[in-house]
Amino acid sequence: MNLILLGPPGAGKGTQAKILEEKLGYKQLSTGDMLRAAINAGSEVGLKAKAIMDRGDLVSDDVILGIVAERMSKHDITNGVIFDGFPRTPAQAEALDKMLAGRAQKLDAVIEMKVDDEVLVKRISGRFTCAKCGKGYHEEFAKPKVAGVCDACGSTEFKRRPDDNEKTVRDRLQVYNKQTAPLVAYYHNKGNLHVVDGMAEIAQVTSAVEVVLKGLKA
Ligand code: AP5
Repeated sequence: MNLILLGPPGAGKGTQAKILEEKLGYKQLSTGDMLRAAINAGSEVGLKAKAIMDRGDLVSDDVILGIVAERMSKHDITNGVIFDGFPRTPAQAEALDKMLAGRAQKLDAVIEMKVDDEVLVKRISGRFTCAKCGKGYHEEFAKPKVAGVCDACGSTEFKRRPDDNEKTVRDRLQVYNKQTAPLVAYYHNKGNLHVVDGMAEIAQVTSAVEVVLKGLKA
C-alpha cells in the first residue's frame, strides 16, 4: 500500500503518518524530516537546504528526488510507504509515478487533509518536539501527560523548528497554495484523491483515513 498524505503545513501529515506507521506497519517517508536530518549531519544536501527551509521556500526538485530515490532503495521499504510532505510539485508527482512504476508498484491513495489557514498558524506556532526521541507535541492540542516530560522517553528537553514562526508559516502557506495545491487536481484526475476533515481531533482524523484505506481493500 502506497499512500500520500497531502496538505498544507500543520495539516497533521506527520502526526497521522506516525500513527499509521505504528498501526499498519507501513514506512513513513517524510522529506522534511530527511532534510532536517541532513542539516543536523552537516551534509551537502543539508547545507543547500537550510536557508531555503528557514525562509519557507521549496528545496529544488533535483535534491528532493535524489533523497527520495535513495530512501526508496533501502531494504526496509517493503510493505508500503506513507509519503509525508512529498510530492510537493507536479514534477515531483510525475517522478513518483515513474519511481513506483519502475518497482512494479502503484499509488493506492492520496489523502488530502483540509484545515483552515488560521488553525494551521495556531497549530504550527504551538508545536514542539522531544529533543531526544522526536515525539511531537502541541502546547494546547497534544500536551505531554506530565508537563515538561516526554511521554515516550522521559526526556525533559524539547525543541522547536526554526521555520515554525507565524511569518514563515504564512509564507509556507503561500508556497503551498501556489506550488503544491495543483496536485489536488492532478490526483483527482487520476481517481486517487480522497478528502478528510483535518480539523477534527487527531484520533478522528486517523479513523477517517482508516475508513478510506478499508474502502480500497474492499
Ligand atoms: P515539512 O517538514 O514537510 O513541513 P510542512 O509540510 O510544512 O508540514 P509540517 O511538518 O509543518 O506539518 P504537518 O502537516 O506534518 O503537521 P503536524 O502533524 O506536525 O517541510 C519543511 C520544509 O522542508 C519545507 O518548507 C521545504 O522547505 C522543505 N521540503 C520538505 N519536503 C519538500 C519537498 N517534497 N519539496 C521541496 N521542499 C521540501 O501537526 C502540526 C501541529 O498540530 C502539531 O503540534 C500536532 O500535534 C498538531 N496537530 C496535528 N493534528 C491535529 C489535529 N487533528 N488537531 C489538533 N492539533 C493537531
